[in-house]
Amino acid sequence: MYFRPTSARNSMRKLRRYDLTEIAAHFLRLDQPTRRARFGSFLNDDLIGRYATHFFDDDPIAFGAFRDGKLRAIGELRSARPGWMSDAEIALSVEPGWQGQGIGSALFERIVTAARNRGMKLLHVLFLNENERMRRITAKHHPELEFHGGEVEATLDPPWPTPFSIAEEMIDDANAYVQSVYERDP
Ligand SMILES: CC(C)(COP(=O)(O)OP(=O)(O)OC[C@H]1O[C@@H](n2cnc3c(N)ncnc32)[C@H](O)[C@@H]1OP(=O)(O)O)[C@@H](O)C(=O)NCCC(=O)NCCS
Repeated sequence: MYFRPTSARNSMRKLRRYDLTEIAAHFLRLDQPTRRARFGSFLNDDLIGRYATHFFDDDPIAFGAFRDGKLRAIGELRSARPGWMSDAEIALSVEPGWQGQGIGSALFERIVTAARNRGMKLLHVLFLNENERMRRITAKHHPELEFHGGEVEATLDPPWPTPFSIAEEMIDDANAYVQSVYERDP
């Protein structure tokens, strides 16, 4: 029987279309400073809802971090052009009460591994100049930095995939599935 692993209480896993309700609820819980840091401007609930509705339209690879069964953070990898080419964009959102606890860093590493495993060679991350956390997260991948007004564009060039990086992603996927089976609500 097909099992939806949505009830894993504390996990990090790829998000699917059946997570859309949780995805919308996560974005709507972001406060205005977090929305501005994530989207580059202040967005009202209507615009946030529209973004969530179209979340899967361009087939992103997305990871979610669940805490106590609720989706508290999302990491997105989207192709910069139609179809999966060699360059893509990364974005992260961690709910205010969950920031500064390593969740964003962990999501970012998952995304870079997924991008690497698909042969992506240019990963762009846009963030506000004052976003020290993103600066530190991206710095570990030795990015090229470009400054556009109040924003920084960090461009990363991940290494080519190896059997180990591919195994890492497969093991993470398998672990998330097994964890969801053990942790699901009765
Ligand atoms: C930016 C964001 C994704 C970071 O995720 P996070 O889970 O809060 O960050 P982490 O706990 O993983 O910390 C990342 C780094 O910042 C450091 N850090 C944590 N809190 C910090 C603070 N208040 N000031 C400065 N550095 C801080 C951490 O020590 C870590 O650096 P290190 O690995 O060198 O020690 C998250 O805060 C967020 O969603 N912010 C709003 C949306 C946003 O900015 N998105 C990015 C643009 S797309």
